[in-house]
Amino acid sequence: MQLDRILQSQGFGTRKECRKAVRDGEVKIGGEIIRDPFREFDTADLKFELNDWEWEYAEQVYIALHKPANYECSHKPKHNESVYNLLPDPVVIRGAQSVGRLDVDTTGLLLFSDDGKFIHAISSAKRQVTKSYRAVTNQPVDDEQIRQLIEGVQLVDEPEPVQALQAKRVGDNVIEMVLDQGKYHLVKRMIAAAGNHVDQLHRFAVGDLSMEDGSLPELELGDWCYLRPKHLALLGYGT
Ligand code: URA
Repeated sequence: MQLDRILQSQGFGTRKECRKAVRDGEVKIGGEIIRDPFREFDTADLKFELNDWEWEYAEQVYIALHKPANYECSHKPKHNESVYNLLPDPVVIRGAQSVGRLDVDTTGLLLFSDDGKFIHAISSAKRQVTKSYRAVTNQPVDDEQIRQLIEGVQLVDEPEPVQALQAKRVGDNVIEMVLDQGKYHLVKRMIAAAGNHVDQLHRFAVGDLSMEDGSLPELELGDWCYLRPKHLALLGYGT
C-alpha cells in the first residue's frame, strides 16, 4: 500500500497532511527516513515511526484502557474529562469507540476498537461475554445479600429479576460479581436492591481477559495497551 494511504488509514490526518509529513521527513521505516509518500510498503507487520513514536500498522485497532475515576465514556463529556483524552490522537481519529461504557466513578478495564463487529460481539446481550466487577460497599456484606444477588433481584424498569452469574463476599465490605448483561448502572442497582450501597466500583475482567491474572500487561490507571490476537481469543473473538 502507498505510504500516504497507510498513514491516513492509521489516523494520521488527511492524505494531504500525511504526504506533507512524509515529505517533511517525519516518517521513518526500519530506521530510514522515507520522503516519498507514494512508495509502496507491505503492511504485514509494518512498524513506522512518526513524531518520535513507534506505531504498528493495524487494519483494525483493539485497545484495553485502565479507566480512572472522573472520566466520562463520551466524546462530549458534561462535567469531567473524556476517556478519549487518554488515548493517542490517531486512535481516536480513526474512529475507535468504547465497547460499552463504565460510569464516571467506575475504574477498570474498558475496551476500544474501530471494528464494529467486535464492539457488537462483546457488548451484545446475545453473546453474553461476562464482565467481572469488585464493589466496595457502604455496609458490611452478608450472606443474605449474596443469596439475593445470585437468586435474582427485582429492579425498577426490569421485567424479570436480574441474577449475577457469580457473587461472593471477598472482604467485610467487598463483593465480587460476574454478570453477563451490561445495563445502565447494573451493579449499583443490583447491590442497592439487595440492601447495600456501592461506594466504589472496579471492573477487573471482560470475558477471560483479566487485569489481574497476567493475561494483560500491567496497566496503571490511565494506561492503555494494544490487544493482540491472543487477547481477542480470551474474549472469544477470532480475527
Ligand atoms: N454497573 C454499574 O453500576 N456501573 C458501571 O460502571 C458498570 C456496571
